Amino acid sequence: MDANHSISFFDNQFQKQVREQSFALNPFEEVALPYLTGSVLDLGCGLGNLVVEAARRGASVVAVDASPTAIARIQQVAAEEKLALRGVQADLKNYQIDGQFDSIVAIGLLMFFDRARALALLEEIQQHVKPGGRAVINVLIEGTTFLGMFQLGHYYLFGRDELEQCFAGWHVLALNYQAFSAPENTEKVFATLIAEKI
Ligand SMILES: C[S@@+](CC[C@H](N)C(=O)[O-])C[C@H]1O[C@@H](n2cnc3c(N)ncnc32)[C@H](O)[C@@H]1O
Repeated sequence: MDANHSISFFDNQFQKQVREQSFALNPFEEVALPYLTGSVLDLGCGLGNLVVEAARRGASVVAVDASPTAIARIQQVAAEEKLALRGVQADLKNYQIDGQFDSIVAIGLLMFFDRARALALLEEIQQHVKPGGRAVINVLIEGTTFLGMFQLGHYYLFGRDELEQCFAGWHVLALNYQAFSAPENTEKVFATLIAEKI
């Protein structure tokens, strides 16, 4: 297993979910799904529940994650169902987006980098969405006190309005904030933004 605590954390969780055949979409993925048409890139795709469903509905998808368990599962489903879905195992800390997409998704990813990398990757995402296409971004924001999944010194909690500010000049289709209780009396606070490139 790699030295990145966050990647190990999720890979262990995904192994358990594969054993239990637990592949339900999370609430953020449910909201994102209708926006994923045409060519789709999902960064930090996890087990691929969202991309598998988008591909089943006709999207052409590239799905990237560092978890070997997640990418193996995505490749297996893509082959079994003959989907236009390509799983790529890569560390997104050093990754360059190749091509232009109708939709780019990063749900629960950007907070796993330091501020400079999180903002640079967000800017790269924006540059690789086609005009008229969409970005679907979900991050943890300030107020989050559940930190167990982070590698020390390698995470970034966005300011409450920071995501919205980053998308100035885009047409914001949806923006919401949600808080969830986490273990040991902690809390996760999320911002989710869906925006169309003008
Ligand atoms: C909170 S999960 C979100 C997964 C999925 N998007 C979802 O909504 O269920 C975070 C994902 O980011 C991935 N991840 C974290 N750090 C990463 C890195 N440096 N490179 C690639 N993937 C990473 C994890 O493997 C995990 O799949």
